[in-house]
This record gives sequence, structure tokens and C-alpha cells, in this order.
Amino acid sequence: MKKKIKEATQFLQEKGKIQPKIGIILGSGLGGLVEEVTSCKVIPYEQIPHFPVSTVEGHGGNMIIGYLHDIPVIMMQGRFHYYEGYSMQEITFPVRVMKALGIESLLVTNAAGGINESFVPGDLMIINDHIQAMGSNPLIGGNDEQLGARFPDMSRVYKESYRTMAKEVAKRLGISIKEGVYIAVTGPSYETPAEIRMFRTLGADAVGMSTVPEVIVAGHTKLPVLGISCITNLAAGVSTHTLSHKEVIETTERVKETFQTLAKEVVVEMVRKGE
Ligand code: HPA
Repeated sequence: MKKKIKEATQFLQEKGKIQPKIGIILGSGLGGLVEEVTSCKVIPYEQIPHFPVSTVEGHGGNMIIGYLHDIPVIMMQGRFHYYEGYSMQEITFPVRVMKALGIESLLVTNAAGGINESFVPGDLMIINDHIQAMGSNPLIGGNDEQLGARFPDMSRVYKESYRTMAKEVAKRLGISIKEGVYIAVTGPSYETPAEIRMFRTLGADAVGMSTVPEVIVAGHTKLPVLGISCITNLAAGVSTHTLSHKEVIETTERVKETFQTLAKEVVVEMVRKGE
């Protein structure tokens, strides 16, 4: 694993030429943030040694290296999903590479279904905790102590000061913001209404098919995380109509501007907090 991380990291260092401070993973339909990046280098995943290749509609497949508001960043335009058939280790490999490139924190974003009945499509939610319901974990297997601990703590992975800051930034920008627990399932089928009722009982506010494996690896490598979900639809049984990927993409398209404004500002503040 270390050799693979090194090869991918060296490749990106040569291509990118800058030292990113923040890693950003853009969820379904949220890839538009790359339009805001200056001195932008676009590196397709298939060119990067040991990277898997993304297949889903609405997901680009590029590493973007450049500046967001003068902050050096590395962005994943599109991520890898467990339901595509990759292993947990494969979908989280880019987080290891970004860490090796020197990022100091990670912003993860996703599209999610709203379980909390006070949520409406288009809401943005700060993730304050997660539930791993994918039935697997990217840290299963031998552990390399140089990468992280065998039994890493996850109780503070969504850094509190980032969450507070993100809420303050949203308030300042006049963006209404929710906060809650994200539960991760494998997909690709959407949930049943009974599953959603169960998840609500368990304390989940939003459901999606990503993010948690990446956050577990971030926790393993001691990268502080800020997570933002875009509530693209009401979850099964809460919604009165059939769930579709089309609705997910339509909602992300509608809130694009708001999401990008918030993301840009929080990135600046994440760097300030780290200094
Ligand atoms: N369920 C699971 N994943 C999702 C959903 C959903 O309702 N919406 C967007 N991603």
C-alpha cells in the first residue's frame, strides 16, 4: 500500500506543482465547484497510478489541483463508490494520497436523502456524526502503524471547531443550514420506507451511499474533517414520489450557487483555523 501511495503522490506532485493545504471531495452533482478554481490542473483519474476509474453518471473523474480563493487545494471531482464494485481500500485510496501530498484537513461533500422530517430538498446539512451501515470498514486487514493506529478513535473526526465555523459562515452569508447525523448504506438500490423508519429510530438525519469510508480513513490518518450534505430528496417513505438519480441531480443543480458560495468560504476559514 505504501508503495502505491508514494507512486500516486509523486505523480500528482509532478503534475500539480503546488502543495495543497486542503483536500475536497465533491459529491454527486456538486462538481461545479471546480469552475471556481484558478491555475487549475485537471488530472483524469485514469492517468493516476493505482487509481480506480469512476463509472457513474453525474460524477466526473478528475483530480483538480489549483487555488480556491488563493488557498492551494486538491479536489476530487467525483468519487469512487462501494456499489461500483471497488473494495473499501480502493475507494479510500485517494484520501491516503491527498494526505501524503500534505493536506491538513478534508472537506467532504455528498448528496443525501433527508430522513429528518424537518428537512426539505435543497437544504445543506453539516454532518456532526455518522453511522457506518455499509457492513464493512476500509481498515479491515493488516494495519500499518505508520499510516495510523490499529483501533483509531472516531469520536472527534468531524472537528467541532469546523462545524461551529461552518454554521457561523452560513449565518454570515444568509444561508440556512441544518446539522445532523449521516448514515451510510451501500446502495445502489435506494432504501425501503421501513429501512428509513429504522434509520430514524437509530438517530440518523440523512442517508447516502458514500463519505463514511473516506472519513474513517481520514480519522485513521488524523486528518480533521468537515462534512456537508446536500439534501437532494426526501428519503423513501418521507417522499411522496418515486426516488430517482434525476431528482438528485436536479436539486444539486438548483442549489449549486449556494453550495459553492458556502464551500468557498469554509475552505478559507478551515485554513485560518489550522494556523
Ligand atoms: N438514499 C441514499 N442515497 C442518496 C439518497 C437517498 O435517498 N439521495 C441521494 N443519495
